Amino acid sequence: DPVVDLAAPTMGFMSWERFRCTIDCNDDPTHCISEQLYQSMADALVLHGYAAAGYTQVSIDDCWTDHQRFQGRLQADPTRFPHGIAALADYLHAAGLTLGIYGDAGIQTCGHYPGSQGYEDIDARTFAEWGVDYIKLDGCHIDDDATTTSSHEQGNKYRQRYVAFGAAMAKVSHIRNMTFSCSWPAYIGDNETDKPFDVMYHQAGCNTWRNFKDIDNHWESLSEIILHWADYWHELQNIPTGSFNDADMLIVGDDHYGTMLPRPQAQLQMGFWAMIASPLLIGGDVRTIPEEYRKILVNQHIIAVNQDVSRKQAYCVVGCKGTTNTDDDAFEELRTTSALKQVWSKTLQGGHSQALGFFNLQEDDDATIQYIYQLEGVVAQCVDLWSDDPNKDLCAQGKGATTQQWDIHLLTKDDNHYSLQIQALEMEPTSHRML
Ligand code: DGJ
Repeated sequence: DPVVDLAAPTMGFMSWERFRCTIDCNDDPTHCISEQLYQSMADALVLHGYAAAGYTQVSIDDCWTDHQRFQGRLQADPTRFPHGIAALADYLHAAGLTLGIYGDAGIQTCGHYPGSQGYEDIDARTFAEWGVDYIKLDGCHIDDDATTTSSHEQGNKYRQRYVAFGAAMAKVSHIRNMTFSCSWPAYIGDNETDKPFDVMYHQAGCNTWRNFKDIDNHWESLSEIILHWADYWHELQNIPTGSFNDADMLIVGDDHYGTMLPRPQAQLQMGFWAMIASPLLIGGDVRTIPEEYRKILVNQHIIAVNQDVSRKQAYCVVGCKGTTNTDDDAFEELRTTSALKQVWSKTLQGGHSQALGFFNLQEDDDATIQYIYQLEGVVAQCVDLWSDDPNKDLCAQGKGATTQQWDIHLLTKDDNHYSLQIQALEMEPTSHRML
């Protein structure tokens, strides 16, 4: 089992999406992978209220090391990290933040820097001694030189490497407890059905893992990830409590390629990641995210759904693979839906409230979906978590009733809008039902 019992999905900043492997600091001093970059992100997290909202981790990604080990140890590139990683960890800790670092389970990282294969013990120890709090262990170039060909052996090589690194982390847990993020499932195909999540958690000690493709800063990439979750929501739910699937970084407010996702789509990502309890790792440049996107990222009601102590993921009620209109008898659909109109439901702490997410990924001109929600309990309150007035009771007229009818207004692609509403139902404590 993991050495850390993760209370909630990790929140913070991660450098890969926006900054990739930018290593030329002469050419691009404010965007290159350097201690300055991470320090300025830490400052920005605090200054702009992200840290107060819960985004307290700064995560280094690929391309931070020198090309050579020094006395067997990984070392940061000395020109880009002149003070070293331990000093950066101190800087972050002094600001009340934590440090995430990046390594690879194979012989090289994806960016061809030294990997940890065969160096698990020394690398885990080095990270612990530096004061690292979280390790993202990527899965490129495992056993590159070996001649294993069968898919069974191919599968085994990930198990061996991740278990070896997890064991190394356990050995140094007296020095430091570090969260373990494993990219393993992202390297063994798209089919979530047979992925060994129990082995990942119980044997390798992974707290969280990347399941699917890397996100990129555009709608096609984002919607593909969402549809993947809709296809496999059932399998993805079936993981040990305290582990979290990672759908990859948030592209909310990200200006990579010089464009930004329109706000409704950004809101959709934030809401979806909240519903599925994915880590919330800001992939944009925290120093310059525009205010209207910052507001999406720091929305406390949405964050509360993500961080809910139940550590549960939403249940897909309408529009996902394996679900039918009668799968959950709480819902009766009035209109035909496809996978492009989904309803997700997440029972929150204590079972008295549910977050409902209504997603429209559809490209037609339908702007409204109408649902009747039949409850076994009595609704005490019903609010739109994105509303500027979250206290406004949307169900006021039906208060005390067991049937609610909502017209959900969802904008469409023609407006270049996709949207999500998350509504929280507060039920009378005596009459709650668990999904
Ligand atoms: C693949 C990972 O999935 C990405 O998130 C990023 O870490 C890159 N590798 C870095 O090379």
